[in-house]
Amino acid sequence: MSDKATIKIDGKEFEFPLITGTENETAIDIKDLRAATGGIVTIDPGYKNTGSCESAITFLDGEKGILRYRGYSIEELAEKADFLEVAYLLIFGELPTSEQLGKFKEDICEQSVVDEDVRKIVDSFPKSAHPMGVISSLTSALTAFNPSSVNVNSEEDMYKAIVKILGKFPVLVAWTMRKKQGLPLDYGDCSLGYVENTYKMMFKQPNKDYVTNQVVVDALNKLLILHADHEQNCSTSTVRIVGSSHAGLFASLSAGISALWGPLHGGANQAVLEMLEAIKEDGGDTKKYMAKAKDKNDPFRLMGFGHRVYKNFDPRAKIIKVAADEVLNDLGIDDPILDIAKGLEHEALNDPYFVERKLYPNVDFYSGIIYRAMGIPVEMFTVMFALGRLPGWIAQWREMRLGKEPIGRPRQIYTGENLRSFTTIDKR
Ligand code: CMC
Repeated sequence: MSDKATIKIDGKEFEFPLITGTENETAIDIKDLRAATGGIVTIDPGYKNTGSCESAITFLDGEKGILRYRGYSIEELAEKADFLEVAYLLIFGELPTSEQLGKFKEDICEQSVVDEDVRKIVDSFPKSAHPMGVISSLTSALTAFNPSSVNVNSEEDMYKAIVKILGKFPVLVAWTMRKKQGLPLDYGDCSLGYVENTYKMMFKQPNKDYVTNQVVVDALNKLLILHADHEQNCSTSTVRIVGSSHAGLFASLSAGISALWGPLHGGANQAVLEMLEAIKEDGGDTKKYMAKAKDKNDPFRLMGFGHRVYKNFDPRAKIIKVAADEVLNDLGIDDPILDIAKGLEHEALNDPYFVERKLYPNVDFYSGIIYRAMGIPVEMFTVMFALGRLPGWIAQWREMRLGKEPIGRPRQIYTGENLRSFTTIDKR
């Protein structure tokens, strides 16, 4: 392949370099397009064809259904790794040695105390508040308790900010859920692993001893790993673009959480369960909902189906489907919703509308069924996604800042009124 692309405008030719990544993905580098052409820009709503950065964190091949973190396949990581190991891998680029992991755990534990005044903020939310709004606000509020900005030229400063948020975020997750349930807010137990500690903080009843449930802890570990990064999706791009203005890490993460909340992104896991419940309540008529999803006059979409990048299958969904069966079996739960989900999947995979558009189940299709089996309330599902995505956001923010990327600032093509004179109000 040539190493240049030529763009012809009004008979004039302009050459731009092609850049190729380590997995042979190619992009036209148009950094100089505007200057060279005297003001012409590109337009690409939804950035369907636009790479916003070069990144060494996550590789995704949507046609082949491949997902890798730092070169390791998602299948292998989900099977063999611990969530904090994966967090370390994503953020720092290599799997930690046992010494590095031990120190990482200790440092995170050291930072897992949240200022008592944050409880007052938690208390001031109505119980009806959506947990995603609460967790986004609490993450933003952390900036008030940790006002010094991160010096990105100092490895130590960067590291401190990272372990701080990794330590405090699970506490905020647990408090967000417990506040809604009227349960006392408490701290975790650093002698437990990160995932189990989070689970304990969420579920420990004030009048009962905590008992480990290894099935649930293992499943949660897997789910968090599967959600840990997904290259330049909506929330990650948000984190990078907010951070590109040199806003702090916690502020950037809070913005990412808000982006994740939407039902077309992370909010789909809540929407899927609500959809499956509605189908159940409606007598389990999946065909009716398939017809609605295909009807262009009906805004209904089959939630948990389709993906901007995966046009074959979502490898995360494959793993989660198997895990859903295992977890429900191990916990002895017979959830009719799992059968409805499998029925819907079967119909969609054999329906020309879905086949032609390459719509397959995504990560959110089966995850809610597992969360529900664990006893996690449906409104908390997207918060669990945020907990899993946290290391990915941090890794992407760190890469962006260390790479000294310029502030994100897209162009536009203006389509409004041309210059006109102001009319005073009495004449309008
Ligand atoms: N149900 C019915 N039709 C669909 C669906 C769906 N779930 N998804 C896409 N389509 C149709 C869409 O109507 C369009 O049809 P046509 O070509 O006739 O106009 C075609 O498929 C292409 O859709 P698109 O909206 O242009 O595709 P996109 O890449 O912009 O959107 C998506 C991707 C994930 C937003 C979309 O598939 C969707 O809304 N899915 C449901 C929500 C969901 O499950 N989101 C979670 C995504 S995975 C978790 C994450 O990382 O966020």
